[in-house]
Amino acid sequence: MTIDRRDLLGLGAAVAATAALPARAAGPAPFLWGAATAGHQVEGNNVNADIWLLEQVTPTVFAEPSGDACDSLHRWREDVAIVRMLGLNCYRFSVEWPRIEPAKGQFSQAWLDHYARMVDHCREQGIAPVVTFNHFTAPRWFAAAGGWEQADAPALFARYAERVARAIADGISHALTFNEPNLALGGRWAVSPPPPAFMARMAACVAAAAKASGSNRFSVLNGGDPRPMIPGITAAHVQARAAIKAVRGDLPIGLSLAIPDEVAVGVDSAIERKRADVYGPFFAVMDKDDFVGVQTYGRAYIGAEREVALPADAARRPDGREWFPAAVGNVVRYVHRETAKPVLVTENGIDAADDRERARFIPAAIASIETARRDGVPVLGYIHWSLLDNFEWFSGYAPRFGLVAVDRTSFRRTIKPSARTYATLVAGRR
Ligand code: NOJ
Repeated sequence: MTIDRRDLLGLGAAVAATAALPARAAGPAPFLWGAATAGHQVEGNNVNADIWLLEQVTPTVFAEPSGDACDSLHRWREDVAIVRMLGLNCYRFSVEWPRIEPAKGQFSQAWLDHYARMVDHCREQGIAPVVTFNHFTAPRWFAAAGGWEQADAPALFARYAERVARAIADGISHALTFNEPNLALGGRWAVSPPPPAFMARMAACVAAAAKASGSNRFSVLNGGDPRPMIPGITAAHVQARAAIKAVRGDLPIGLSLAIPDEVAVGVDSAIERKRADVYGPFFAVMDKDDFVGVQTYGRAYIGAEREVALPADAARRPDGREWFPAAVGNVVRYVHRETAKPVLVTENGIDAADDRERARFIPAAIASIETARRDGVPVLGYIHWSLLDNFEWFSGYAPRFGLVAVDRTSFRRTIKPSARTYATLVAGRR
């Protein structure tokens, strides 16, 4: 263990509250208090991933490559120990398809065993594993063959999901097929398309990855016009859900959606139209889901056609972005109203170099959820993004979402004061 124990002072009561989970929990499930990561962002050396290749080629749109990330591949027990020390009862992480199926149809038992060990270990530590089957990355072979646009994409994803389910479904608490497919697939695109200059750089990066793969295409999430991918990925969700349910029928399954708290500016009808554009394809295929995963980072102001600037009187953070931690409470209400399903907050957090901002953010965000719960919204849990400062995709390691800092050279974990704030708050509610 390289955790600085001085950081843990005051967490004893929270730690004592955890105990090993029974094989299958009986009775009503406890509210989940968790922290989240994703494989590519923390494990390191995800060399068979489509995004790994995009990070390596010239030109690239990535600020820096993911490299060793947080070395969680070797330090995952330490990560789980921190979750436990914070008194949380849930850890959300993803299984990496590129590791599990590095070549089409060739499944790695070693990697399936690895993730099964993680699941078992979490349960021994009294921590419910919430597992994402696809957190943005796919195998390189899949991207080079056409990604989500190829005809057999849904069947390929469902076959992988079934293999994973056979290895881990028994021990996990909730499964998410996809992480934020709406972000890449026409969601934010409709109201807030990436600047043309970025898309031109992305096109060059994708072309370089295709060339490196000896293919004439390299189709990835967030890599270009997302609309052709919508049918493939929505069908993949439906088929994967069926495949997982066939392995374990009572496992709660959903997907997570990126949903800001949208505010209509000026034109009342605009917001409803944009919501239909953004969420229509996903709400339509979620009818048999058991819950909806919600990921909210703030508010978005939507004009007649596009996202518009913050109003002059908005409360602002020192860097000019809006300060509105209650966004997540509004979104859980909205999602439950639209779907009538239970909601699990699978991500909520703040990119803040100054950890005092995070320490103020967490109680305010949780208070907004608790008000929604008191008003009758069935919220299953709150999972903070992120456990660790990690690889923030195009932006590299500069953004700081973590409850825990990670030294970029030694990978030493240091628990931040905001984590203590969160732990204390959770300890008072369990
Ligand atoms: C959503 C994504 O799921 C996650 O990968 C990302 O790091 C966070 N939001 C923060 O941007």
